[in-house]
Amino acid sequence: MRLKGKVALITGAAAGIKGEVMGFGGASAWMFAREGAKVVLCDIKEDLARRSETQLREHGYDALFIPLDVRDEEQWKRAIAQTVKTYGKLNVLVNNAGQGYMNTVEQATLDIWNHEMDVHAKGTFLGTKHAIPEMRKVGGGSIVNISSIYGLVGSQTSAAYHAAKGAIRIFTKATAIQYAKDNIRANSIHPGFCITPMTHRLQEDPDKLALYTAKVPMARWGKPEEVADGILFLASDESSYITGSELVIDGGMTAQ
Ligand SMILES: NC(=O)c1ccc[n+]([C@@H]2O[C@H](COP(=O)([O-])OP(=O)(O)OC[C@H]3O[C@@H](n4cnc5c(N)ncnc54)[C@H](O)[C@@H]3O)[C@@H](O)[C@H]2O)c1
Repeated sequence: MRLKGKVALITGAAAGIKGEVMGFGGASAWMFAREGAKVVLCDIKEDLARRSETQLREHGYDALFIPLDVRDEEQWKRAIAQTVKTYGKLNVLVNNAGQGYMNTVEQATLDIWNHEMDVHAKGTFLGTKHAIPEMRKVGGGSIVNISSIYGLVGSQTSAAYHAAKGAIRIFTKATAIQYAKDNIRANSIHPGFCITPMTHRLQEDPDKLALYTAKVPMARWGKPEEVADGILFLASDESSYITGSELVIDGGMTAQ
């Protein structure tokens, strides 16, 4: 029970159906619930998220779906207010919502650039900004921001995604420094290539799959649970002296 009595809000948590490919958010929701947390799932995919919420509840867990587009400040205010109204407090925030466009600098349009920055950078900023006052009320908290290895290194295939994930990385450090005195920790996670709904289409193309797998020293893709394990660690009190850090979960990809 590593999160016993804690209340956690996870964005991008719609894909949490047992027997289907889960996302990091969905896999974390199950892990958090098993470890004693009350879990708030937020996403724009309402049908999928409601199915995940129902399954979690059928297993006896406290789970609540709140529709949230992370780009919208008013929706953030409502989601956090509803969380506190339902469960009494907020201890953990996981900023995980995202999507990835594969465009080079010249291929990327301004719309794509803005969309990437809105969902990842603005979304993470808004969630953090509105979670902090609630965390302060309960003597602290943990914010886990899902960046990417693409927030650490460049690639041939993406542009705006790198910038947006890089923004999350450094924003996390600013948050960590500014709120350490309030016992609010903030850390980023940098997953490598993982099997989730976001990369599902890539998985179906054997040539592309082989190309990506060849870049990974462990010669395989990560599972959502392997990233959720890291999220759980940073969310829990086991990481009580860790803030402003970067946890890379990539099978060795960025070690070379
Ligand atoms: N899968 C990978 O290989 C990989 C690697 C590195 C980083 N990531 C990052 O991990 C995070 C989770 O992705 P995933 O791979 O688990 O896939 P996923 O599709 O399960 O998760 C992303 C979720 O974010 C939601 N979302 C998108 N825009 C949103 C918005 N405006 N408001 C609220 N929700 C929104 C989607 O509906 C989706 O459910 C993303 O930020 C992604 O960029 C993924």
